[in-house]
Amino acid sequence: MRILITGGAGFIGSHITKLLLNEGHEVMVFDNSAGNLERLENVIASVAKQSSSELEIAASPASWRTPRNDNSGMTLLHGDLKDSEALEKALGGVDAVIHMASLIEVSESVKYPLKFAENNIMGSINLLEAMKEKGVKRIIFSSSATVYGEPKTLPLTEGMPLDSANPYAASKIAVEQFLSAYHKNHGFDVTILRYFNPYGPGEEHEPETHAIPNFIKNGLDKKPVPLYWKGEQTRDFIYIEDLAKAHTVVLDQSGFNIFNVGTEQGVRIIDVINKLSDILGYTLEVEDLGDRPGDVRSNYASSQKLKESTGWSAQTDLNEGLRKTVEWFKSRENF
Ligand SMILES: NC(=O)c1ccc[n+]([C@@H]2O[C@H](COP(=O)([O-])OP(=O)(O)OC[C@H]3O[C@@H](n4cnc5c(N)ncnc54)[C@H](O)[C@@H]3O)[C@@H](O)[C@H]2O)c1
Repeated sequence: MRILITGGAGFIGSHITKLLLNEGHEVMVFDNSAGNLERLENVIASVAKQSSSELEIAASPASWRTPRNDNSGMTLLHGDLKDSEALEKALGGVDAVIHMASLIEVSESVKYPLKFAENNIMGSINLLEAMKEKGVKRIIFSSSATVYGEPKTLPLTEGMPLDSANPYAASKIAVEQFLSAYHKNHGFDVTILRYFNPYGPGEEHEPETHAIPNFIKNGLDKKPVPLYWKGEQTRDFIYIEDLAKAHTVVLDQSGFNIFNVGTEQGVRIIDVINKLSDILGYTLEVEDLGDRPGDVRSNYASSQKLKESTGWSAQTDLNEGLRKTVEWFKSRENF
């Protein structure tokens, strides 16, 4: 398939791009970060070298070029969701879109809700309009477990009520609703994937607010790791390669589908710190920051619906995933 992946040069998108190429798809990466595109170019070039495959980088990350129609594997497109013309060019001949481009930092969203609404909601509608214009009607959307707010019961299943606790979550709910409208009004095939807590090699957000990369970075620097709620909250940590695979198994889904993507296990944050101490070979020092209002206490997924539809289930055990992630942070080489 020929697939356009918006935000495909980010942390999760890079892994999905790599997997799509390995599975023989043609991938057009559309991203507004020149730095991330350059990083992705290096990742894919090293994969191509290692496997002597035919991958080719078709465009320089800092500039727009019309996609080459030569089965080269990957094309990098430096563009923004608000640029309809760029989107329409990128959509030529595309079979499906994986839509990941988004601002993601929750506390930033509380400070700058308009910026989040413009980028995440208006940007997504702009993409949907460009897709309609070009007759591309298959989309997979990166949503998040944050759409559920504070869970009343666990595990979380897809039919549970949504409750946005911040503008980031509100932007995901809004886009889900627009996707529903485009499915009903224009016959789009829509798959919404609600990710739980992704982690793995290559995760370097700025600012980084996610627990695992912060624990590992501080641990390697022998600095105390920040800890809230004494580490008693539970999260469902999904290894990045398992999450990437969830995208390729839904490529042929039709209709309107929503799937949780998680391991179905809630792990206490303090247990993650203890596992990391074992892997690093010394006890991580903790900085007790007390309670943090607004945090969800516990969550974990039921991913039975995705399993029943596609056979997918998470394969990577937390110890193995953490070990691979620590190794990556030590070398910071391509994943
Ligand atoms: N990382 C997580 O824990 C997590 C959890 C749940 C859902 N998600 C969702 O997964 C997706 C990817 O997350 P990530 O962690 O890889 O984030 P990321 O920040 O690493 O990647 C997002 C990419 O989107 C690009 N982008 C943002 N706005 C854009 C725009 N207007 N036009 C073009 N490109 C744009 C960014 O430059 C970046 O390269 C996001 O939609 C996010 O909301 C992430």
